[in-house]
Amino acid sequence: MAEQTTYNYKVVRQFAIMTIVWGIVGMSVGVFIAAQLAWPWLNFDIPYLSFGRLRPLHTNAVIFAFGGSALFATSYYVVQRTCHVRLISDKLAALTFWGWQLVIIGAVITLPLGITSSKEYAELEWPIDILITLIWVTYAIVFFGTIVKRKTPHIYVANWFYGAFIITVAILHLGNSAAVPVDFLSWKSYSAYAGVQDAMVQWWYGHNAVGFFLTAAFLGMMYYFVPKQAGRPVYSYRLSIVHFWALIFTYIWAGPHHLHYTALPDWTQSLGMVMSLILLAPSWGGMINGIMTLSGAWEKLRSDPIIRFLIVSISFYGMSTFEGPMMAIKTVNALSHYTDWTIGHVHSGALGWMALVTIGSLYYLIPRLVGRKLYSMKLVEIHFWVATIGIVLYISAMWVSGIMQGLMWRAVNDDGTLTYSFAESVAAMHPYYVTRFLGGVSFLMGMLLMAYNIFMTVVGYDPKDVKDAIPAPLAHAH
Ligand code: HEM
Ligand code: HEM
Repeated sequence: MAEQTTYNYKVVRQFAIMTIVWGIVGMSVGVFIAAQLAWPWLNFDIPYLSFGRLRPLHTNAVIFAFGGSALFATSYYVVQRTCHVRLISDKLAALTFWGWQLVIIGAVITLPLGITSSKEYAELEWPIDILITLIWVTYAIVFFGTIVKRKTPHIYVANWFYGAFIITVAILHLGNSAAVPVDFLSWKSYSAYAGVQDAMVQWWYGHNAVGFFLTAAFLGMMYYFVPKQAGRPVYSYRLSIVHFWALIFTYIWAGPHHLHYTALPDWTQSLGMVMSLILLAPSWGGMINGIMTLSGAWEKLRSDPIIRFLIVSISFYGMSTFEGPMMAIKTVNALSHYTDWTIGHVHSGALGWMALVTIGSLYYLIPRLVGRKLYSMKLVEIHFWVATIGIVLYISAMWVSGIMQGLMWRAVNDDGTLTYSFAESVAAMHPYYVTRFLGGVSFLMGMLLMAYNIFMTVVGYDPKDVKDAIPAPLAHAH
């Protein structure tokens, strides 16, 4: 029964360490494909290393392996600490860990081989999709089962966000991945949908993968780790509930902004645009709540590099959720679509928001999982600056190159012919692609510093030092 008096930190430790490992792998592939765009000979004429195959490897590795492991780790930690109970089953939790790693290995093998459903962010073929479904159901059982067993009267808001993420990702995955295999011995399958319906289902999935995987779940992380690290309560608990419901209601409708000026009916595109504009409000509700949690303790921004990671991540969240609605306006999208502006937007969300909030949370979490102090705060400080410089280089290069691309493509001479050939626009991108590559290298360097710092913190730790005893429910000690 001793098990019932302690939290299950083992699975949290495992996922936390793999977050760093997969972060380094996924970002290294990102740096490599960034280099390929600047120096195309780096494709080496080897199909397994070609940009087209490595790009989905990058997106899958950073979103599902790095981001996914971070979400498993933090949600398992937060749900236990805020419910004052151990996870309902150690075995099922372990199954989610090993199963998720297996999914990732499946991606690492199949994507470079060119085995793909060709649906963006859902490239994995049907056998891996089935495995994902099994692991996800297990995850839901562990998470919601733990909530049901909770010893506290109410469910802390971070769990609402994690819960919405788990339920919605299950629905999205089942809906979008519906496919007919060619036969049961082959990896090839065809989507259950055709034509523009297929595109709409794909972007209903794609946009909500952003909304729930890359946003709602990371807001769950924010709602636990920002108040913890700041040592202050959430700025407004009421705002957290209001913007939660507004956010999850609105996100679901915004997908068509990915399909402006396509065969999708015009009214659907306009609906997607309007819902995207509305989405600014609940997004900023979260941003304001996160940043204002620090009110009265602003001096921590100067003294505590971990809080700096967290607060800067929320600022990037605010920026990318302002930029997104602007890009969803049809006339703006006419310029931005197909250009690097989109790539800049993606990485201000991905590096600026989800990677920084994850890094800040892990710096808080990992020392507690091993009962040690962080090996070096100085290294955290350096990491912060190296990462921030990397992001700024990356996204500003993409903004400039994206807008330049859009303008070059639409420039016409008096006689109606195009002013620039496509190849001229590609040549004009070169300096920006080199700058983006340097930004990526800088961000990756920061991850390597983190790996060293965490290794030195964890190595040879003594399980006896870990404070994993479950406090009495009324102690309010999560
Ligand atoms: C060292 C850091 C990183 C570098 C150098 C990097 C580089 C790249 C490059 C070169 C592309 C292809 C762009 C193109 O096709 O024109 C890309 C796409 C993408 N990356 Fe990253 N990346 C990094 C980190 C991340 C992280 C942490 C995420 C987290 C989610 C992420 C998410 C994505 C996504 C979603 C796309 C596809 C964008 C789209 O289709 O519009 N990246 N990345
Ligand atoms: C209010 C919030 C947001 C809105 C309305 C929004 C809107 C948009 C729009 C209009 C596009 C361009 C579609 C196109 O022209 O193809 C886009 C692309 C994208 N956004 Fe956002 N965005 C928001 C927040 C975010 C955040 C926080 C992230 C997080 C990491 C993110 C990740 C992405 C990704 C990955 C793409 C590229 C999709 C693709 O084409 O592969 N967005 N978004």
